Formats: sequence, C-alpha cells, structure tokens
Amino acid sequence: MAPSFLHLATGIALLTTTAHADLTTTIDATSNRGTWEGWGTSLAWWAATFGHRDDLADIFFTLRTTRHQSVPLPGLGFTIARYNLGATTTKTTIPPSTSMKTSPSIIPSRLIQGFWLDWSSSLPTSPSWNWSADPNQRSMLLKASSRGATTLELFSNSPIWWMCKNHNPSGSDDGRSDNLQSWNYQNHAVYLATVAKYAAENWGVSFTSVDPFNEPSANWWNGKTGTQEGCHFDASTQIAVVGYLRQELDNRGLKGVVISASDESHYDEAVETLRKFEGNRTVMGAVERVNVHGYQYEKGRRDVLFDMVNKAGKKLWQSEYGEADATGERLVSNLLLDMRWLRPMAWVYWQVLDGGGWGLIDADNDRKTIGQVNQKYFVLAQFARHIRPGMRILDGGSDYAVAAYDEKARKLVIVAVNWGEAQYINFDLGRFGAVGSDGSVVKRWATQIGSGSRYVEYSDTQLSGKKFWSRFEKKMVQTFEVTGVVL
Ligand SMILES: *[C@@H]1O[C@H](CO)[C@@H](O)[C@H](O)[C@H]1NC(C)=O
Ligand SMILES: *[C@@H]1O[C@H](CO)[C@@H](O)[C@H](O)[C@H]1NC(C)=O
Repeated sequence: MAPSFLHLATGIALLTTTAHADLTTTIDATSNRGTWEGWGTSLAWWAATFGHRDDLADIFFTLRTTRHQSVPLPGLGFTIARYNLGATTTKTTIPPSTSMKTSPSIIPSRLIQGFWLDWSSSLPTSPSWNWSADPNQRSMLLKASSRGATTLELFSNSPIWWMCKNHNPSGSDDGRSDNLQSWNYQNHAVYLATVAKYAAENWGVSFTSVDPFNEPSANWWNGKTGTQEGCHFDASTQIAVVGYLRQELDNRGLKGVVISASDESHYDEAVETLRKFEGNRTVMGAVERVNVHGYQYEKGRRDVLFDMVNKAGKKLWQSEYGEADATGERLVSNLLLDMRWLRPMAWVYWQVLDGGGWGLIDADNDRKTIGQVNQKYFVLAQFARHIRPGMRILDGGSDYAVAAYDEKARKLVIVAVNWGEAQYINFDLGRFGAVGSDGSVVKRWATQIGSGSRYVEYSDTQLSGKKFWSRFEKKMVQTFEVTGVVL
C-alpha cells in the first residue's frame, strides 16, 4: 500500500505498474459475526405497479437466469420481501367532510391502497374492510413467497389516512410533529395485526415480523409538500404503539411474530431512539429486532448502533438502502461499511425497480415503463447470489473484503473490491483447519463497477497451499468460492 501513497504524493500515475500482489487479506476462521438471514427488497411502489409480472418475480426471488430486454440476468435469489401496508383509500365510506387529503406534490404511484376503510368496525369481515385493495403488491408478495422468500415483513409508512390528524398520509402539516391521533394509537396496532392475521389465514402468507414505523424521527414528513406516504412519531408515541402492537398480535395468536423497529433513516437516529426505548423495559422486551435504513451513507456511527443492539441481545437489519448511483459504486462502498461496522444479519434494498439510478432495473412507476438493467444489479449479484441464508459471517480481515462460511457445503465465500489501480489481491486462508487440496480450482465471478464485466464466471484460479490470489481491475468486485474448507 505504501507505493500507492508515494505515487499519489508525487502525482505519478500507476498506469505502467505491472501486476503484483499489492494487498493481502487474512480471513479469520475463528470469527463468528452471526448467521446470515438474507437479502431482499421492499415491495411498495414498484410492486404496486408491476407486481403482476412473473419475470420480475423470477429475477429477484430465484437464482435462475431470466432474460430482461434480451439481457440474461442471473437471479438475485432474494429471500426477504417487505410488504408496505397502505395508508390510502380511493373510495370513502365516511362523510365527505372527512375525506383523505393529498399533497399537491404527491407522486400517485407512491400512495399505497389500504384495507381498513373506516372506523365503524374493526371486524375484518365487516364492510369497513376492502380485501381487494392493493392487488399488484399482494400478487408480488405471493410470487416472492412461492419462489422461496421465507422472511416476510409487514411495514407501514403512515397510519391509514383517517387515523391521521390532518387526514393526509404524507405527514403532519409542519412535518416535524406526530400525525397519528392519540385515540388511534391502538387502532394503528389493530390495523397491522389484523392484516398480519388475515394474510396468514387467507393469503397463505405468514409474516415473520411487523414494523409499525418508517423513519419516525425524521422532520421532513410534510403533508403539504410530501411526495409519498410518511409519518413522524415522537419516541414516546412509538413506545405506546409498540405496547399496543404486541398485545394485538398476541390477542390474534401471533405471539411468534416479531416486532421490528424503528426503521430510522440514519444510524445515529436509531441510536437516539433506542436510548429512549431503553428507559422502558416493556418496549425493550417487545422490540426483538432493530431495523435501520442506510440513508446516512458514508457517515454515522454504525459501530455504536451495533454495540447497543448486540448488548441488548437483539437482531439488527439494514432494512432499507438506496441511492441514485446506477454504477454500483456507492452501493458497494456502503455495503462494505455495513458488513464491517454495522454487522446486520440481513440487507434489504429499497426499490429494485425505480428511476433516476435508484433502481437495480430502471423503471417509471407512474408511466408504467421498464427500462434497462443498471450495473448496480450485477454488483449486488456478486454478494446476494453467494452469501446465502444460514451461512456464518466471518471477519474478512480488511475493509475491502467480506467472507461467509457454509458449514454443510464446506464452502468459503469471499467478496472483495479493489478501489486502487489494477493489482493482485492475496487471500490468506492460513487460519483455516483445511482448505481443499493444493491446485484445486477456486471459482470466481467478476463485475466492473460503472460499466464493463457483468458477473462473468471464471475457473482460472487455483489454491496454492492455503492461499490464492486474483488480479483485480480498478473498481472491480470479485466473488470467490473455495470448497473443501474446514474452519
Ligand atoms: C376495493 O379495492 C378495489 C381494488 O383496488 C377497488 O377497485 C374498489 O373500488 C375498492 N372498494 C372500496 C369500497 O374502496
Ligand atoms: C412502557 O411502555 C408500555 C407499553 O407501551 C406502557 O404501557 C408503559 O406505560 C410504559 N411505561 C412507562 C414508565 O412509560
């Protein structure tokens, strides 16, 4: 690494550098960073638009290859889907004086149809409920489930509009304050629990977890200018709602359904909210998993959040990540930071179909058009297709490598990224009990961040004793599978 600094300092380009082993990372065979639960996506907007499409379900929820606009896409094999419980109804069964309000800036595809039409009855068989609502998103939830998505979460961006103070599911008028009416704290929990129960009995879908909030500490949920559903909740309100949610789930025989919270936007906000929860033992007991979003990107104390969650004996998920960089560069750099410092047991992309570089596949939900696949799709494939549920996450030994071990298959998976000029990276497996015989093939896959190679498979790499190495282009992601490995 020293030579790179020297070149940078003197301004000499590295173009003439011939390949040599510049970096070595040692995978720690004794480490155990937990059992991986999976990769996934939130359904919400894209699925409410395109959820009827089997090809999309195959692309995201199987490992098979599916053609998209004549490009063969290796399936991402997601096992997690987050179903967004809607806060919007189109027809109203209640007096027009209490009809739903929408922001003039609302993006129509971001309003999700809800099931509970009015407050006159909480009985799911009564006319107060419309179980035909949100057909496309429900369709994708079922397609995901039938293809092997085993971990399903029910989440809410806003309480349904008529529970909100201003009847606007995009947030309170000032954006900074609570929008859920105090007499509806319990009803918000009733809504979530009723849908979880109904799904189990009528859709054949058992939610693993229910999450009552989305970015609740945020102060930008502004009904007047909002573009989507959203709602601020003070921590004290969150505490009250979580208490009710546990009761309502239990009352419906859903004791095994986990409550996850609070899906804060930032790592540092999640820390603050958790500190407030820690003052209430009931709520700390009720929240079994901490969900956090990755919108603090390169900033924030991921490590502090991990420590808190770990000490509290809870699970931690990166439950939402997304940005506008279609190249995959920002995705991979933040994913590496997450794996090293946040140590989540699942990693969930926000919208796999979206515009402006946000989607893994480009799409416009309002025009209902689907475009090309973005390079970030293949970057994520390097991780999602190889680090699979049930694997033990290991310490990759550096900030550019992650590793996972499949005990049954005796397989070691390493995903590494080269940020520097083209160079060799050495992988030292000296701490493993066994690593397969000298000269045996280490399969590898390569994707170039930005453009170029897209998940290209090679069998040209071999073990040399307990080591192997591979040449990386600048900004290349590679995945390796080493077989015959014993910890
Ligand atoms: C129920 O949902 C369906 C599907 O969106 C819709 O066509 C219908 O109008 C809704 N009914 C009521 C009473 O809201
Ligand atoms: C703790 O939370 C529970 C559940 O919401 C609530 O019933 C209780 O009043 C809270 N206790 C305190 C001291 O705030």
